Amino acid sequence: MEIDEKPERFIVDGLRLDGRKKDEIRPIKMEAGVMNRADGSCYIEWGNNKIIAAVYGPREVHPRHLQETYRAILRYRYNMASFAVDERRRPGPDRRSIEISKVSREAIEPVLMLEQYPRSSIDVFVEVLQADAGTRAAGITAASVALADAGIPMRNLVSAISVGKVDGEVVLDLNKIEDNFGDADMPVAMIVESGEVTLLQMDGIFTKNEFIEAMELAKRGCSQIYDIQRDCLISKYKKLDSD
Ligand code: CDP
Repeated sequence: MEIDEKPERFIVDGLRLDGRKKDEIRPIKMEAGVMNRADGSCYIEWGNNKIIAAVYGPREVHPRHLQETYRAILRYRYNMASFAVDERRRPGPDRRSIEISKVSREAIEPVLMLEQYPRSSIDVFVEVLQADAGTRAAGITAASVALADAGIPMRNLVSAISVGKVDGEVVLDLNKIEDNFGDADMPVAMIVESGEVTLLQMDGIFTKNEFIEAMELAKRGCSQIYDIQRDCLISKYKKLDSD
């Protein structure tokens, strides 16, 4: 479905343009341990998004002056391939990917026990091969699984999703048309078990009640994402067991 202008309506007879209900997430497939040379990795297909997360480390820090005496540093690079979007993107970092890298690192850092690896670095690379809205949330979700796959000690997983507003209604997991032409977009990352929010951004405007409804929806969405992350890790270890 390729629409490059604002549709007249986003919700028709209770269903969104891609056939989903307001609180329904797009289909998700996740696989851990897909890259031989990385210490941990995860490939995620989330709707039309296709993203790889790879983790290297704990390893020596280069350049050395970035080293911290009592903890590991976490580096996170979000990159979108030039062929990931309709209009070819100029390769290399831009303002958007620098911002996404920063907020994604901050979303993940609270669950990592970085103090266990002084003077080292843990490097996360998120490569978006095909983008269709919600790539930062999908990246964080995959990075979290890749870190667990790398055996990095973590207090928990971080799960992420975006919520937004179209036709005046709060909806879960925006697709590209909803993201580009809707009224609001709010990516959220959280530790589902504790409800601790580690990323909250907003583009557009919610009323107070809409915000409360959106957070509630995001929480339910993250909880579904968490179950998929867990199943993905469990199935990797089951596969290892049977090999
Ligand atoms: O991907 P996410 O929703 O986290 O970030 P965004 O900046 O809100 O971008 C929304 C979507 O716009 C992306 O997922 C891409 O599908 C699209 N986009 C694009 O087509 N060209 C770009 N240079 C950047 C984003």
